[in-house]
Amino acid sequence: MDSPSISTSHLRRRLLKWYSLHKRDLPWRHTRDPYKIWVSEIMLQQTQVATVIPYYERWLKAFPTLASLARAPLAKALGLWAGLGYYRRVRMLHQAARHVQQKLAGKIPLTAATLRELPGIGRYTAGAIASIALGEKTPVLDGNVIRILTRIFAIPQSVDSPSTLEKLWSIAAALLPDSNPGDLNQALMELGATVCFPLTPQCIRCPACKICLAHRKGKELAYPVSSQKDVYEKLRMAALVLRNNRQEVWLEKQPEQGRWGGLWMFPFWASKKEMLAEIGSLNLKPVLFLKVPHAFTKYRITLEVYGAQHESEGVLKPRNGKWLAIGKLVGTALPSPHKKIARAISARAILKRGPLSPKSGGEIIHGVG
Ligand code: ADE
Repeated sequence: MDSPSISTSHLRRRLLKWYSLHKRDLPWRHTRDPYKIWVSEIMLQQTQVATVIPYYERWLKAFPTLASLARAPLAKALGLWAGLGYYRRVRMLHQAARHVQQKLAGKIPLTAATLRELPGIGRYTAGAIASIALGEKTPVLDGNVIRILTRIFAIPQSVDSPSTLEKLWSIAAALLPDSNPGDLNQALMELGATVCFPLTPQCIRCPACKICLAHRKGKELAYPVSSQKDVYEKLRMAALVLRNNRQEVWLEKQPEQGRWGGLWMFPFWASKKEMLAEIGSLNLKPVLFLKVPHAFTKYRITLEVYGAQHESEGVLKPRNGKWLAIGKLVGTALPSPHKKIARAISARAILKRGPLSPKSGGEIIHGVG
């Protein structure tokens, strides 16, 4: 599918050459095991490479094969995922592993079309696994690839329209070589992650710079064209660090079925008002000591963290919690905003400044971590 002024084969050659010279040495690039590529692709959804690497390595030590994952309880998988966010991914991966073991005799489907029938695998992920691990000539298209292709081909239509997306899927498919199509797909991913940034594209380092129609017009930032503005919803939530006289804090186990399934967290509420309504009768005097900014899909959340000293035993027990020594917090698997709280408390405990008691005046630390 050559456009009036772009030769697909020329672009393909340039991308592949650049990828062979500049690709990062990433752990999942040393394997073609479909299970391992699958794990990497699920972890890489909405998450940066640098964040994923240690999780990926720990995961494969714990679950070196699909069968080992299928045998493991969900709670163990969730524990290894704690901090990566978007926990639906790990539930689906675990569910898919069990499905493959139980219904498909342990054999991972070998085509993009059949991979898509598994829980948690969409068109992009199926394309990535099938092309990288299985050599199938099938494209990928995500935000990075959309940005690159709309720039190179100066696509004037809105990427919010399904017909534009279909056109982009076709362009991505036409770019694929017969052998090692996964390299071309990864070249696009790599270019999006390391060169063709949304706001600061590094055109001088781009292998497609001479070809790119957006660059020729000096209008890289005009693409992708979108008819929708990003709409973010700001939320202020509240969390409580309840500390007793034994240098312990109160943590709660989240319901297995919820978004944070099975993870330990500080008690939290949708607002300060809800927190006060629930703890109002307990004679606690919560003091704001930390604000943790946190982004989740379209939400921009500020988690306001309150500290309070608690004198008697087990006050929030109906909420399925436990007291944990502050010294053990840092080694505990918590989702990342709560890990930031844990780090702040642990640092304070070491400094013996303890801002959590109302008597200390409640210092506010902005954006710790
Ligand atoms: N993002 C999604 N898949 C990727 C991969 N295989 N390598 C690097 N970044 C990615």
